[in-house]
Amino acid sequence: MSTLLPILPPSDVLDENKDVLTPEAQAAEEEKNRMRRYFQKPEEQLTPVATQEPVCLYLETTNRCNLLCVTCPRTYEQLEPEADMPWEMFTSLIDQYPNIARVVLHGIGEPMLVKDIAERVKYLKDRNIYVLFNTNGTLLNDKNGRALIEAGLDELRVSLDAAESEVYQMVRGKDFFDKIVENVKNFTRLQREMNAPKPRVSLWLTGLRETVDQLPNFVRLSHEVGVTEVYLQRLVFFDEGSNGLARAESALFEHTTAAEEAMIAEAERVAAELGVMFSASGAVDPGESIRMQATDSPWSLCRRPWSLMYITANGRVLPCCIAPFSMKGYGSFTLGDATQHSLRDIWNGSEYQRFRDGLLSSAPPPACANCGLRWSL
Ligand SMILES: C[S@@+](CC[C@H](N)C(=O)[O-])C[C@H]1O[C@@H](n2cnc3c(N)ncnc32)[C@H](O)[C@@H]1O
Ligand code: SF4
Ligand code: SF4
Repeated sequence: MSTLLPILPPSDVLDENKDVLTPEAQAAEEEKNRMRRYFQKPEEQLTPVATQEPVCLYLETTNRCNLLCVTCPRTYEQLEPEADMPWEMFTSLIDQYPNIARVVLHGIGEPMLVKDIAERVKYLKDRNIYVLFNTNGTLLNDKNGRALIEAGLDELRVSLDAAESEVYQMVRGKDFFDKIVENVKNFTRLQREMNAPKPRVSLWLTGLRETVDQLPNFVRLSHEVGVTEVYLQRLVFFDEGSNGLARAESALFEHTTAAEEAMIAEAERVAAELGVMFSASGAVDPGESIRMQATDSPWSLCRRPWSLMYITANGRVLPCCIAPFSMKGYGSFTLGDATQHSLRDIWNGSEYQRFRDGLLSSAPPPACANCGLRWSL
């Protein structure tokens, strides 16, 4: 049963002479795209010792969560002791790379559970850093939303995964669909009232065979709540001992049926009609993202260990935010302890070098062999 709302024009980003982005929205869009290009590193830099510093930090501001998504490893095992990243650790990590270009404030957990998340955004924006995070949207109320706008957040990605309540509950484990839709609608209205083009808000759906038919209505819903960007996120799953729907049978990866492809094409058609940007993370178009590229060593395309660091709420350094979804436990891809060593020492320490070396070889680290092409930007 669909619970679609009346149509609202996404007037927050459209100019009066329609279909043209306002100068502020255009600038925000260009900045977002510039940030993505940071990940395209020249081939000659692909050595075990990184010749450049990271351009992006993923800081897991918390590993706590209030949902039980059946695609998320957090629902099935405790990966680390429950914690919010202490403010002192947060600032000390940033202060080690004060010129970092981009910081992502989520890991495995819900960042809006962190009481001072807006202060953290402000700390980064005062240093001219591009800031974004994914949220499940459950806590995006007027007060929190206003604080994030005022702090200068650049991007807010809302993981909704469904266009209707029952399907939402099946994937996300709890009955919050109507609340989140209302939250997002109120948030984009608040942005219009405050004349605030930032953060750029997008809705995300993790691609599952079970929910691909949601896509056309997902795009419509996005338009109705005033969000002009929709992303189909590639499912990452464990090869062995899968959890919930994080499993090969549920992935829209490589083996889509004609009916599933038709759903994606229909969503693209609806998006074009409504002026919604619909894309798949890390790929040219949503259809392209679910087709395997021809290579025997897909991991060799990954540039993450040369461009970013991921630090958990407890200070553990990981190569990326994808590995926790492709390999159980953190042991085989822990690259350092930021409570004991500086980020610079870890960045070119022996563990990082060994990891990069593996990624460049035909015998990659286990997390990467399992991850393959399932990663995205
Ligand atoms: C782990 S969550 C953390 C942020 C926040 N709690 C949220 O749900 O947006 C980050 C992103 O991973 C997505 N995700 C969850 N399980 C996934 C999977 N197996 N493969 C790919 N993405 C997944 C979520 O929907 C979300 O967009
Ligand atoms: S995907 Fe996000 S909201 Fe869902 S359980 Fe994982 S961390 Fe929580
Ligand atoms: S797990 Fe995937 S995204 Fe992470 S470093 Fe390995 S290949 Fe890259």
